[in-house]
Amino acid sequence: MATGLQLPPPLLMGLLLFLCVGPWTEGGKVLVVPMEGSHWLSMREVVKELHARGHQAVVLSPEATLHVKEEDYFTLKTYAIPFTQEEFQYLMLGHIDLVFERAHFLKTFLNSIVILKNVSSVYQKSCEELVHNQDLIRHLNASAFDVVLTDPVYPCGAVLAQYLSLPAVFFLRAIPCDFDSEGTQCPNPSSYIPRLLTRNSDHMTFLQRVKNMLYPLALKYICHVSLSPYARLASELLQREMSLVDVFGYASVWLFRGDFVLDYPRPIMPNMVFIGGINCANRKPLSQELGEVEKPSGGIGASSCCSHPLMVLSDRDWRWAPAAGASGGFGAGCGCEQVRVWQWV
Ligand SMILES: *[C@@H]1O[C@H](CO)[C@@H](O)[C@H](O)[C@H]1NC(C)=O
Ligand SMILES: *[C@@H]1O[C@H](CO)[C@@H](O)[C@H](O)[C@H]1NC(C)=O
Repeated sequence: MATGLQLPPPLLMGLLLFLCVGPWTEGGKVLVVPMEGSHWLSMREVVKELHARGHQAVVLSPEATLHVKEEDYFTLKTYAIPFTQEEFQYLMLGHIDLVFERAHFLKTFLNSIVILKNVSSVYQKSCEELVHNQDLIRHLNASAFDVVLTDPVYPCGAVLAQYLSLPAVFFLRAIPCDFDSEGTQCPNPSSYIPRLLTRNSDHMTFLQRVKNMLYPLALKYICHVSLSPYARLASELLQREMSLVDVFGYASVWLFRGDFVLDYPRPIMPNMVFIGGINCANRKPLSQELGEVEKPSGGIGASSCCSHPLMVLSDRDWRWAPAAGASGGFGAGCGCEQVRVWQWV
């Protein structure tokens, strides 16, 4: 029966507004475990927005950092790692140019593996220091966070979230080795979805489909080198056998910084959300120099987002095109240290 309490509309509106801003609608407490480098530049925008909406964010970072710096919209909590700032910087960036050298594919691949091993070992050792730092863990455990927001490229935040029994939200561009589809039990057919580095499109011949099935095997090796320590760490902390799929499968929500314009469409699960463009929140107009690059090439698009600092695109398949002034002039408009021009051929 609709004969209950009848409130005049203005009073009802007032009551609703009061309910919305009442003291019991306090913001949540978010523990942010970021990834260094350009990854942080995108996540920082999210943390800023969380703060603007009344949530409280604590950003967890090693004492040595590249980009993670104190800001007034979050609390920075640092932990000691077995590297000085100089060592950290050298191991992370010292040889990065080797990856972009125009050398034989095999040489580039081997160089990349050495760098990856070094970088992975820095993250692994830092993560071990973090989870074995009893004072810090006790403090975090007592802080009653509501959620962990983390970039899972190295899944330290994912392990920590599970250790502290907090739900985890992943924020990422992409993850190699199909851990997203395995972790969420999402269909992922090789015959339709072009794999990383294959340069295949979503229309494949039989041989391309074979290549599409073989490439992931090499990537699995790389993932094994760089990620298996986290499965061991999770097993040790949680005192049960944990696989990498268990570590990645823990996420409640996956926020992908992509969309089906930049990437080919694929099946997704309801907890996979595409938020492409968020890394461009801080966009600046193209520099005059880049405008010049863009014009004569016909049909080439360009984007200068800080997260992947600078891209020149004409199709989905890309290669690195070191353009004149790539390390100086183009960067100026973007405010990024790391600037590359990619030409999509
Ligand atoms: C890898 O790390 C070692 C020290 O741990 C260093 O001597 C070497 O130069 C590094 N190599 C690369 C390619 O980063
Ligand atoms: C966090 O605190 C709870 C309750 O005191 C305790 O049961 C749990 O073991 C603690 N977790 C960690 C990782 O220390």
